[in-house]
Amino acid sequence: MRAEHIFKNDIDPALSFWDGADDNALVCLGVREETHDVKTFIFGPKRPALFHFQPGQFITFDFVIGDAVVNRCYTIASSPTRPHVISITVKRVPGGPVSNWLHDNMSPGQEVNATGALGSFSYTRNPAEKYLLLSGGSGITPMMSMARAQYDLAGESDIVFMHHARTPADIIFRRELELMEVNSRNFKFIPVCEADAKFHSWGGLRGRISAGMLNVAVADYAEREVFVCGPPPYMRAVKALLEQLDFNMAQYHEESFDFAALEQEAAPVLAGGDSFEVMFAKSHRAVACSAQTTVLDAARAEGMRLPSSCAKGLCGTCKSRLLSGKVEMSHQGGIRQREIDQGMILLCCSKPLSDLVIER
Ligand SMILES: Cc1cc2nc3c(=O)[nH]c(=O)nc-3n(C[C@H](O)[C@H](O)[C@H](O)COP(=O)(O)OP(=O)(O)OC[C@H]3O[C@@H](n4cnc5c(N)ncnc54)[C@H](O)[C@@H]3O)c2cc1C
Ligand code: FES
Repeated sequence: MRAEHIFKNDIDPALSFWDGADDNALVCLGVREETHDVKTFIFGPKRPALFHFQPGQFITFDFVIGDAVVNRCYTIASSPTRPHVISITVKRVPGGPVSNWLHDNMSPGQEVNATGALGSFSYTRNPAEKYLLLSGGSGITPMMSMARAQYDLAGESDIVFMHHARTPADIIFRRELELMEVNSRNFKFIPVCEADAKFHSWGGLRGRISAGMLNVAVADYAEREVFVCGPPPYMRAVKALLEQLDFNMAQYHEESFDFAALEQEAAPVLAGGDSFEVMFAKSHRAVACSAQTTVLDAARAEGMRLPSSCAKGLCGTCKSRLLSGKVEMSHQGGIRQREIDQGMILLCCSKPLSDLVIER
């Protein structure tokens, strides 16, 4: 049975599934050390509920750090086939405020609010007989969720999972992936390292991804649906290589952990045309917003600080209730149809069609 037959996006709200939109509290249940700079954090729902998501999707967290609420997205690395808990696997980013705070502070019993699951990077959206999962560094997490789901379901698809790490000491989930390979006839794990670790010389594939490496390790790569996630230089290199190899890019799917690196024009605050009043009910502020400007941009231009992260309709951080008025919204998966039907909008990708009243 394929995963897409089991995980459907629209769920009955009467069922007791955890829903970040209604009851978003999560409780940290455990912390696991994966490598010297990567930890896994396991969360359960505060009230009894099951998690429902597609393998590869992410959650947007509100972390309270000092006096500020900081939003960050993390892919659910666990599999929806084990719906009682979710886990995220986080790499320390040098100087990064949230990844280091998580490593140093998050411990069992702590509560955190979150929204999701969101995102369309999942093999369940692209059914295929054969997949090639390509990841670098912490970009392994969405692939891990997909691999775990396929393993638990004894899925029929053939998966080759090539993961690039700096050294053998940096290969996240290595033992689990090796075990999956031993136990499955249709799952192959290919770790690739750039260098040896201090007490561990590397005998496997070495170096950056190349045409030679792909031809030797995954000779039938052209027949596969390809999923790619990793640091921006890795993702650029993979994409350029596949294009150079005349790979059918309709079979190519990527996820970036860096919203700033996503190719999309930033929306300028445009004057002229129709202008509307946007009233923020709770903060008792009103701003003018032209029909060509997003509500978030107009509010920012007036000095208002509203929660936002991607500013591209992806992460759901700016989700707000529209109390009256109409907007034109072009999102990229950061809001569900059910939430839209309930009057929610994403401020970062909504432009006014009339005067608006927003709950915030
Ligand atoms: C959809 C999505 C899913 C994500 N899933 C994961 C995940 O499963 N595991 C995970 O560790 N992170 C993940 N991230 C990244 C995460 O949201 C944070 O950006 C990261 O933890 C760094 O946060 P920070 O506050 O410590 O540093 P920031 O201030 O956010 O980042 C500092 C700098 O490091 C860069 N950077 C951010 N993340 C990385 C990274 N992983 N590797 C190299 N450079 C980076 C940023 O572009 C920035 O320049 C995901 C991001 C997105 C958008
Ligand atoms: S800020 Fe990410 S959806 Fe609006």
